[in-house]
Amino acid sequence: MNRIITSALLSLLFLVLSCRSASAQFPPAENDLDRKVIAFLKEQSNQWRYLNIPMSDGRILYDLVLKGNYKKAVEIGTSTGHSGVWIAWALSKTGGKLITIEIDKGRHEEAVANFKKAGVADYIDARLGNAHDLVPALEGTYDFVFSDADKDWYKNYFIAMAPKLVKGGCFTAHNTNMRSGSIREFLEYAENHKDFTTTQHPDSRSGISVSYKK
Ligand SMILES: C[S@@+](CC[C@H](N)C(=O)[O-])C[C@H]1O[C@@H](n2cnc3c(N)ncnc32)[C@H](O)[C@@H]1O
Repeated sequence: MNRIITSALLSLLFLVLSCRSASAQFPPAENDLDRKVIAFLKEQSNQWRYLNIPMSDGRILYDLVLKGNYKKAVEIGTSTGHSGVWIAWALSKTGGKLITIEIDKGRHEEAVANFKKAGVADYIDARLGNAHDLVPALEGTYDFVFSDADKDWYKNYFIAMAPKLVKGGCFTAHNTNMRSGSIREFLEYAENHKDFTTTQHPDSRSGISVSYKK
């Protein structure tokens, strides 16, 4: 009997702690959009199936955009839109917009539906196509990039976006904890680039490299 009560109490404690740590990911809600996005992210939290970033990394991207007051963002690798929702949510506060690129039609369509559900569609231009072509063809200047598509192309995405980034802008890339193969090649290139200062974000478990343009 005691064992049953102890195990029920432990389950309850686990539930309370996991709810608390999930809410800790969210900034305080200040308006209707914040409430809508938070409700969407909570409801969706166990539904991300297509290599989407963890929620804690979403919060990191959100904070980076707000901290830099960035307004012109590019995401390479939309998937079904988890990181896009976080970045666009931050851009809703800075007055900015996100271009996000995905090669897979089904994921692109699901992302577009998710952006509507989350309430951030007005802050996103979701493009379907191969980023190998679309990224070099982007016109104008940008202040924030999140690279999360094909890892063996990270260095090429960085080379394409570096001249388009404004001073103080930043190029971030996901899964940079695995410092091997093409990720290592990308990191070495970014770290040795004279116009950028590159570090690893200290709070990301998967690894987010952050390269600020000097
Ligand atoms: C790791 S997932 C992105 C996850 C997304 N950032 C999120 O958190 O929701 C990588 C995505 O990049 C897409 N991708 C891979 N190569 C691509 C390319 N050359 N052009 C555009 N998208 C590509 C894949 O189809 C996949 O959906």
